[in-house]
Amino acid sequence: MIKIGASILSADFGHLKEEIKKAEEAGVDFFHVDMMDGHFVPNISMGIGIAKHVKKLTNLPIDVHLMVENVDLFINEFEEMDYITFHIEAVRFPFRIINKIKSIGAKPIVALNPATPLDRIEYILDEVYGVLVMTVEPGFSGQKFIPVMTKKIRKLKSMIVENGYDTKIFVDGGINVETAPLAVKAGADVLVAASAIFGRDDVKTAVKNLREAALKALNIENQNFLTKSFDTHEETQ
Ligand code: DX5
Ligand code: ZN
Repeated sequence: MIKIGASILSADFGHLKEEIKKAEEAGVDFFHVDMMDGHFVPNISMGIGIAKHVKKLTNLPIDVHLMVENVDLFINEFEEMDYITFHIEAVRFPFRIINKIKSIGAKPIVALNPATPLDRIEYILDEVYGVLVMTVEPGFSGQKFIPVMTKKIRKLKSMIVENGYDTKIFVDGGINVETAPLAVKAGADVLVAASAIFGRDDVKTAVKNLREAALKALNIENQNFLTKSFDTHEETQ
């Protein structure tokens, strides 16, 4: 089913412990920690220390999203993390990076900036746990979802299904109650959101609304599918 990751980029850092607790109680499935180096993206956010601190505050999985140029430099710091997300644009030897992430016991996820074509990851698709489709240019929370990314998600889903892979599709950027249904209908399995969760007064309602919007979109799709196969069945009678 659909999973939701809370990106702490929009959390109140003065009350991180309470923010984490609120999101846990609201039923998020994991936490997403955005690390930026001021080179790969024009912003600097959290460092290794914060990721380790968040890990201590929760039993839920942690996904470290590395928006940094020198990915290789940091991997060994993240032994206790669950998912390590690296950008394909930042690495020259992705197989090497994937193996290194696996060797410390974490699951590798490859991220693509919005304009990066899917053929960049064709040959590593079966080696990674997931693909993170950036649905905004990375660097900041609170930006607008780029609509043409639904086309990219659909195409990626076909690549995964046609090859019989089990790779999960993550989406990150501008995900809210309006855009989550679009992403899910296109084939996304995991939604990452910052402002739609921590930017709201009531985190519990925010997560509930997000999950409901996504599930509703999925059910509609399933219903269409059932109706279609029923029709086809009748025609062949
Ligand atoms: C953007 C980060 C996202 C960001 C999402 O560079 O990778 O994880 O926190 O923020 P929203 O959900 O507000 O677009
Ligand atoms: Zn992120």
